[in-house]
Amino acid sequence: AAGLFSSGLLAGKRVVITAGPTREALDPVRYISNHSSGKMGYALARAAVDAGAQTILVSGPVELATPDHVNRIDVQSADDMLAQCLALVADCDIFIACAAVADYRPGTISTEKIKKGPEKISLELVRNPDIVAAVAASEHSPFTIGFAAETNDLLAYASSKMERKGLDMIVANDVSDPAIGFNSDHNAATVLWPGGSRVLEEASKATIARDIIRLIADRVSLIRD
Ligand code: CTP
Ligand code: CA
Repeated sequence: AAGLFSSGLLAGKRVVITAGPTREALDPVRYISNHSSGKMGYALARAAVDAGAQTILVSGPVELATPDHVNRIDVQSADDMLAQCLALVADCDIFIACAAVADYRPGTISTEKIKKGPEKISLELVRNPDIVAAVAASEHSPFTIGFAAETNDLLAYASSKMERKGLDMIVANDVSDPAIGFNSDHNAATVLWPGGSRVLEEASKATIARDIIRLIADRVSLIRD
């Protein structure tokens, strides 16, 4: 497998990958976020480099070392992640959205620490921008891949997400499967594209990443060459 990759499936391609969670500040000491280790995105970055791509990771806060030869841009919020991605999109051939972006952020960010008060308080949240949809809709949109983590109706939700967001491919994960839960080193997925699909049986994230990169390279060479 290493030989296949070193032969350069993605030689000369510029790949941007979002990874990890986003953090949405409430005040200087608090934030809203979600469980995401970043492992899948980092494994994809490693596989992209091994396939010969120039690879940029736009990463939320994670506890992972930057893979060799990867250019890493750290971000916190979804707004930060969107701005970085839009700045990179013009020089990008393949965009992989692996980040677990917070769907909502606090409506206001307090500049001072919020003090404890009443028994009950409520928080107003506003929708975050959809990063992968914005990239797919941009003027020179790259080949764009999304992920869909679902607990039910996996393939139906994933294919409607692909269509709604204007994606070229989507990787569907069944997150109700405990073997591939948060922080796991394993994953399993069904990859969908318009007119086709491939089941990737449970394997290490490194193996799944290489399989995804291989499928992307196949589709990119069919569609864009
Ligand atoms: N995504 C994104 N920006 C967002 C939300 C999601 O780029 N604000 C990307 C994710 O990185 C992933 C894909 O969109 O590649 C699907 O994310 P998901 O959370 O499953 O989709 P949502 O549209 O947020 O739908 P929901 O959470 O309601 O299922
Ligand atoms: Ca979401």
